[in-house]
Amino acid sequence: MQLKNDLLIRAAKGEVVERTPVWLMRQAGRILPEYRAVRNSLSGFKELVETPELAAEVTIQPVDILDVDAAIIFSDILVVPEAMGCTYEMVEKRGPLFPKTVRNEEDLKQLRVADPHEHLNYVLEAIKVTKRALNGRVPLIGFAGAPWTILAYMVEGSGSKTFSQARGMLYTNPTLAHQLLRMITDTTTAYLKAQVEAGANLIQIFDSWAGILSPAHYREFALPYISEICDAINEVPVTVFAKGAFFALEDFSKLNCETIGLDWNMDIAKSRKDVGPNKTLQGNMDPCLLYSSFETIERETKNMLKEFGPYRHIANLGHGVYPDTDPEKVKCFVQTVKEYSHTMNK
Ligand code: CP3
Repeated sequence: MQLKNDLLIRAAKGEVVERTPVWLMRQAGRILPEYRAVRNSLSGFKELVETPELAAEVTIQPVDILDVDAAIIFSDILVVPEAMGCTYEMVEKRGPLFPKTVRNEEDLKQLRVADPHEHLNYVLEAIKVTKRALNGRVPLIGFAGAPWTILAYMVEGSGSKTFSQARGMLYTNPTLAHQLLRMITDTTTAYLKAQVEAGANLIQIFDSWAGILSPAHYREFALPYISEICDAINEVPVTVFAKGAFFALEDFSKLNCETIGLDWNMDIAKSRKDVGPNKTLQGNMDPCLLYSSFETIERETKNMLKEFGPYRHIANLGHGVYPDTDPEKVKCFVQTVKEYSHTMNK
């Protein structure tokens, strides 16, 4: 299927584009009343994730409503631990909870390297249904969590400000941590390859908890596994988004991937210098900008676009859009990128 709008793919590959592509992390979700209507008619988040037709419907909502240049498959990074044997619950207003955690060798023995076709088939089906429904309008992004971030949830058992149990394991039992990272990496590689086979046009790896590691620990427990996944995915462009990992940007320049995501703490010019000229950068507006007036959103978005320049940039926020954001403000961000970048790229 030929893509009608392939700006995201061309920008990722570093080709000259007529304007900067734009999408938002967490664009499919609670900011849209249309999402909440579907979600509230169900038993919960997991039913939505596990029902391919419904997942496809909410994946496409932001393309219709917000006019973004990409869809991202509606799922969660936590489907991977679940497939490995560590099930999660999504607790209303509190977030994810794992009744069983991985703290010792016995816990590890209960886990398996998952087969995506067997244990994650509902995601692959959702990708196929979404691709058919999109009919080439925009590319579909597939994704997974980076191994360190997945380990963090499996060891901690829930969200946390510090992930001190997970971070502690890197000191108290590094061998166990590496064994778990090995299993997560093998599962994730097979899962992402299956997403590409099912039709994903680009893959994003979310290392949401990169920024809580020391640079030395990041190089030992995170980077090699991400690097391995990047080496395995060659069919489509890959984006690595490691929140808070400003210290790893130079290391990222050597990854076998096309795009590096930046969060809003990262200086654009300094990041470009660290990453080098041969990768596309994605980001990096503070999601809180979208709480401000339309005038402020336009001004700040234009400033961001000027700083990144017309090529090798994919416009996005520096992290997921916050659930209490007015969709009209998101539309203002998207339209400003489209209109202003068009004048820059002439
Ligand atoms: O639009 C999209 O981006 C696609 C869907 C998507 C979800 N989660 C849906 C979701 C994606 C890409 C994710 C990734 C994800 N999930 C990450 C990495 C990105 C990031 O934000 O750092 C992480 C760390 C998770 C884990 C997770 N899922 C948490 C901590 C929570 C609870 C807090 C929260 O943000 O709501 C979730 C739940 C979740 N995942 C929701 C959605 C739409 C809200 C659930 C609901 O509808 O009630």
